[in-house]
Amino acid sequence: MRHLLDTQTLDRETALRILDVAEDMSDTQSREVKKLPTLRGKTVVNLFFEDSTRTRISFEAAAKRLSADVINFTAKGSSVSKGESLKDTAQTLQAMGADAVIIRHPASGAPRTLATSGWISAGIVNAGDGTHEHPTQALLDAFTIRKRRFGLDSRGRDLAGIKVVIVGDVLHSRVARSNVWLLATLGAKITLVSAPTLLPQNVSHWPVRVLYDLDEALAEGPDAVMMLRIQLERMNAAYFPSEREYSRRWGLDAVRAASLPSDSIVMHPGPMNRGLEISSAAADSPRSTVLEQVTNGVSVRMAVLYLLLAGERNDERGEDK
Ligand code: NCD
Repeated sequence: MRHLLDTQTLDRETALRILDVAEDMSDTQSREVKKLPTLRGKTVVNLFFEDSTRTRISFEAAAKRLSADVINFTAKGSSVSKGESLKDTAQTLQAMGADAVIIRHPASGAPRTLATSGWISAGIVNAGDGTHEHPTQALLDAFTIRKRRFGLDSRGRDLAGIKVVIVGDVLHSRVARSNVWLLATLGAKITLVSAPTLLPQNVSHWPVRVLYDLDEALAEGPDAVMMLRIQLERMNAAYFPSEREYSRRWGLDAVRAASLPSDSIVMHPGPMNRGLEISSAAADSPRSTVLEQVTNGVSVRMAVLYLLLAGERNDERGEDK
């Protein structure tokens, strides 16, 4: 794997390979000494042009647990035009010898620009670009669903027939987009539930079914219900009447969560707007995988960095692996 830019073009075999390597990484993470020597001497740069806590520290933990050197580069509010500043930054990182660049950027497509520009030879990982994609989030979500469903026996398995309901602000959500593509590739049946104003216009071309009534979707007993954060920072107009009305119609409260089959899971990528799209009772219930998703995120990002950088090391030694 050279880059990880999206899940739309990620094939089933590569997706399963990442999830299986993540299982191996996850096994090492329950040991007392979590650090592996695998990426010693490699430099991973976290290049974040947008606020983030969990994704940045998750990539940092993943890189450090593989013994890579990590440089955190937080570039917010630059006055230089976006293309130019990205080019300058990329060339700087190239000159510093970056082997992998994890990029988060408010502009959709920025990671692909970096990967195809020729400015830098590092492997590029998209950590969220505008409303476009957030592939490692979808991979950690798929990993979490698979592990809950199949436990120790999950290696090699896809998500054929697994019912996943994705609820909320799909319009502004790169998490929803990455999940739709990946989960569909893995064979899951996806239902989107939202207000019509919070769905993209081209949703009819997506491999999903759309419902507007959350209770109708929950009554079908889905395996996983994924709540999306209302992305208030990406909204410049009123997309729904009021927060109260939103919660009433599309929020997951304790009553709705309790109506699910006992082995269904409730997911949220974080950060949560408690009391808006998800109530505290639902977020903190035993069926919530919110913290498991965070834990799994480190294993999945270790797998991505390993496949991006350790393969290259083998190539350098002339090994065909
Ligand atoms: C997501 C993001 O930034 O796209 N969060 C994350 O990666 N932890 C989801 C969100 O912000 O709602």
